[in-house]
Amino acid sequence: MSQPNKPFWGIVKPTKENIEFAAKLIKEGQVVAFPTETVYGLGADATQERAVAKVFAIKNRPFFDPLIVHCASIEMVSQFAHLPTTKVYQKLMSQFWPGPLTILLPKKNIPDLVTSGFPEVAIRIPNNKIALELITKSEIPLAAPSANPFGKLSPTKAEHVAKYFGEKIPLIIDGGPTEKGLESTIIRLGERRIQILRPGPITARQLNYVTNLPVQYIENHKNPTPGSANSHYKPNKPLKLVKEISPIDAKKSRAALFFKKPNFNPDGFYDYRVLSFAGDLFEAASHLFTYLHELGELPIEEIVAEEVPEESLGVAINNRLRKAAL
Ligand code: TXA
Ligand code: MG
Repeated sequence: MSQPNKPFWGIVKPTKENIEFAAKLIKEGQVVAFPTETVYGLGADATQERAVAKVFAIKNRPFFDPLIVHCASIEMVSQFAHLPTTKVYQKLMSQFWPGPLTILLPKKNIPDLVTSGFPEVAIRIPNNKIALELITKSEIPLAAPSANPFGKLSPTKAEHVAKYFGEKIPLIIDGGPTEKGLESTIIRLGERRIQILRPGPITARQLNYVTNLPVQYIENHKNPTPGSANSHYKPNKPLKLVKEISPIDAKKSRAALFFKKPNFNPDGFYDYRVLSFAGDLFEAASHLFTYLHELGELPIEEIVAEEVPEESLGVAINNRLRKAAL
């Protein structure tokens, strides 16, 4: 167990002074939680092994599960990865960065601890002003996993981070609820095709549209990467996943997570949430973890959730629901 960090500032507003102070902590080798457009991250100087080791310790994360490196510009990326000159990479980077796309690239000047010894580093430029400012002020990339203990749901609010870690993290920058609500899409470029290692906000169709390459999903069972460890994304209560929630599922010992407006009266459940009343997948994704956090706090025995259409962003939502149900 890692010791609580002293002193401790807790959740702070994203003022210029606070971001500068956070950057100072990062430079000193401390760990700071910050918002991105996907989920909150637990950031450390990606070039300082001792700082990165703290991230693993705080999260209780096994060293074989590598971290994503967050940069503020393509210029910065080029200092920490060998940038292929092919058009496909250029297109991906110019279309989707800053944004929720993580690309595996041959690493440079990055300690093995960050990549768990793999020759490739997972890199992205987040599309969040606070994150970009923090990275810029820190003058180095931030190695940052989602700010949750290993195996738990990713945080979409600063309060989730505070609740998970208490005083183990000296500073949490509050950027409000995250916009996307789901972790970034992770890809690797293969021979004339794109492999999605983790589905996320950037969809297969978008990747295909921009590159003209076929896109395939890789479930990485041999390697415990990325996000493929079975214990990922667990809410605080067991989750049962069904195709469609029906009235016979209703019990007072259960809470329900509907995709869209239910076509029956859901009062038979202890409580319920609707990801998107209109059935909009983007809205649904942005609510998913927030609602799972909320339902997990209720005095119930089980959460019943239903699948969403397996298309567009629905692929990523179903992926997280299945992992929560394992
Ligand atoms: O949206 C996100 O990606 C968030 C925010 C904070 O940026 N980060 C995030 O990090 O979800 P994390 O550590 O919770 O998940 C990153 C996944 C892990 O499952 C890890 O196995 C995979 O990315 N990964 C990281 N580096 C890798 C590498 N070099 N090769 C293969 N997989 C890698
Ligand atoms: Mg994570």
